[in-house]
Amino acid sequence: MPENRRFLLVRRPHGTPVPEDFSLVSEAIPTPPPGGFVVRNHYASLDPAQRGWMDDAPSYMPPIPLGDPVRATTVGVVHSSDNPDFPPGQWVLGMNALEDYSVSAPGGFTMPVDISIVDSPSKYLSAMGAVGLTGYFGLLEVAKPQAGETLLISGAAGAVGSVVGQIGKIAGLKVVGIAGGGEKCRRLIEDYSFDAAIDYKGKSVEHLAAEIHAALPEGANIIFENVGGDVMDAELLNLAKKARVVLCGLISEYNAPERIGVRNLWQVLAQEATLYGYLVMDYAPRFAEAGAIMAEWMAEGRLRIDEDVQTGLENTYDVFMRLFSGANTGKLVLQIA
Ligand SMILES: NC(=O)c1ccc[n+]([C@@H]2O[C@H](COP(=O)([O-])OP(=O)(O)OC[C@H]3O[C@@H](n4cnc5c(N)ncnc54)[C@H](OP(=O)(O)O)[C@@H]3O)[C@@H](O)[C@H]2O)c1
Repeated sequence: MPENRRFLLVRRPHGTPVPEDFSLVSEAIPTPPPGGFVVRNHYASLDPAQRGWMDDAPSYMPPIPLGDPVRATTVGVVHSSDNPDFPPGQWVLGMNALEDYSVSAPGGFTMPVDISIVDSPSKYLSAMGAVGLTGYFGLLEVAKPQAGETLLISGAAGAVGSVVGQIGKIAGLKVVGIAGGGEKCRRLIEDYSFDAAIDYKGKSVEHLAAEIHAALPEGANIIFENVGGDVMDAELLNLAKKARVVLCGLISEYNAPERIGVRNLWQVLAQEATLYGYLVMDYAPRFAEAGAIMAEWMAEGRLRIDEDVQTGLENTYDVFMRLFSGANTGKLVLQIA
């Protein structure tokens, strides 16, 4: 009998999530609610943000209720439907959960997608999805770069960071990336055309700040921040006058039992910099427009998008933790079907 396996949040993680915070259960496949439909999920996006949604803390989205499956963006096929706009067989992208089948009620966020134009439906979670566009809008619309400026990126070899750096090169910037380990730094230069790469692992704030200074003696006009903590402290010691800092994420803090914070905030004042809090969903009405530009850049060979596709809902915990060990190489996606 086909069934619906669901990856539930059963306990709020304290610090780093452990397997006991979750439970994989099997239930009957749901039926569509009036006006809604049921989606067979094929691929799910695994994102650092999901760690934040597991906490009972104020944020831009409500916490995942205990006992519910972990919220996730998925791409899949309509399995059964009470909505003529979403007939069975239609491929869709939506905010669902880590489970085989998700119910989409009227008014939920789900949109049809055309999988004939991509080599894998997972591309709707990477190149054509919010993660690639996080880099696009965060750099071009929030930081508003001018050709010739300098751009410093943390988490640079990841899904968002690698896109930011490549768009930075397209925009005529000098791009320096910070990532964990020699292999990721090699990829920044060889695969993504960064001008310089810095390995942050095992370095003090002072040591890292000195390496950034060596790569960017003129300072950074733009910092694209994905990491926070010590890495951000080292970056703040390298601000150019009137720099813009795009605060996209703080992954070094997501599993910290207590917030670490940054200590060199004074530099924002001293260099008259501007710090922008940034959420990509504000730009959702413009996703199609930006997606078309990204597709053009990919076709021209100017933008490379890597995916790290792992399989099996039963492996969700181990796959999710790749984000925090740094094991993922590109956009982390879980193949469910
Ligand atoms: N604001 C928005 O709208 C928005 C949207 C999407 C994503 N984000 C944020 O963007 C950032 C990147 O997300 P992503 O989806 O592209 O993930 P990703 O960069 O593909 O994967 C996470 C990477 O973070 C690094 N990392 C993990 N723990 C770390 C730690 N303690 N210290 C330093 N680095 C650490 C690891 O790379 P290394 O091996 O280099 O350490 C890891 O591979 C996250 O902060 C996320 O929350 C924000």
